[in-house]
Amino acid sequence: MGIMSFPLLIMILIAFPLSSNGGKWTYDGPDGEHHWSRNYPYCGGTFQSPINFQPELLRFDPDLLPIQLQNYNLSSKEQLTLSNNGHSVQLSLPSRMHLAGLPYRYSAAQLHFHWGSSNMPIGSEHTINGKQFAAEMHLVHFNSAKYPNISLAVDKSDGLAVLGVFIEVGEFNPAFDQFLKYVKGTKYKDQKVQVAGFNIRELLPARLDEYYRYDGSLTTPPCYPSVLWTVFRNPVSISRGQYLALATALFSSHAQESSPVPLLGNYRKPQLMDNRVALVSFQQGDLTWSWGALISLVVASGLGILFIITLIWCFLKNRSKADQETIKADGCKPLEGKEKSTGV
Ligand SMILES: *[C@@H]1O[C@H](CO)[C@@H](O)[C@H](O)[C@H]1NC(C)=O
Ligand SMILES: *[C@@H]1O[C@H](CO)[C@@H](O)[C@H](O)[C@H]1NC(C)=O
Repeated sequence: MGIMSFPLLIMILIAFPLSSNGGKWTYDGPDGEHHWSRNYPYCGGTFQSPINFQPELLRFDPDLLPIQLQNYNLSSKEQLTLSNNGHSVQLSLPSRMHLAGLPYRYSAAQLHFHWGSSNMPIGSEHTINGKQFAAEMHLVHFNSAKYPNISLAVDKSDGLAVLGVFIEVGEFNPAFDQFLKYVKGTKYKDQKVQVAGFNIRELLPARLDEYYRYDGSLTTPPCYPSVLWTVFRNPVSISRGQYLALATALFSSHAQESSPVPLLGNYRKPQLMDNRVALVSFQQGDLTWSWGALISLVVASGLGILFIITLIWCFLKNRSKADQETIKADGCKPLEGKEKSTGV
């Protein structure tokens, strides 16, 4: 097996379980997500993904360290395969790329996307307190410390680690253009093109220390509950033109099919939490702010009340001494001095 065929092999490994189980699946219609469990029982099971990160079910964990990316800066001499698998567009990644700082070493296999439609740029799978982003990128890694390849890891409880990145429409993103400019070559299902390697790190948000962490599943059939999820807090942005390259250029049907089916809205809805909590590596911004505001308010009111009490106390004391002129000129303290001296 040559180096060139390795990405192809990985794609076959990923595609094979889907086709071998003999169940066509889509995102809506009679084969839509509510019917996935007919052919893929895990899709109706527990610990499913994606989920909504709702504040009540988040727990801050100070032990969650920044994600460590190894060998993510690929040489332009390296060829990556960009392909349309009928459900998404996917870029193969070499297994030299891996994640460190997790319980095992997880080696990269591929990255792919979920997105909305051209007039509805809401297609992320995970959501933050109900907020859905325009799109979401998943970087799929397998536990290479325990399993020799992704096909043996995909259904194991500690088999996969996926990095999720929210994508919003805004600034043009030159890093994304390194493969998006070739996406027209993968218009139809099973079409593929070769793309020169680049620094995959540039596809991720600047901060790798702020993320959500939970145990979940593949978000597509067969929905194995085998994924250690890391979803970054901060989105990356792509331009509207770049978003439209995903949302309007691709079809889930083969080139030879007479009625082409657009590939869009390829996101699964949030799943039940099933007694799970999601850990967060960062202190919730709003929460910190409101606690800060509350503390300031309490301190300020306390100081205010103290000030007023002091004033009243001074006033009453001075009045009893009936020395109004000294109060006007010097306030309370000098009067105390005078009081002492008269007392002596
Ligand atoms: C990535 O590698 C290229 C050479 O292959 C180098 O020029 C570049 O500085 C590297 N980038 C980073 C961020 O390390
Ligand atoms: C994955 O690894 C197992 C065990 O080494 C092997 O039997 C299997 O053929 C491999 N799968 C592929 C498709 O390479």
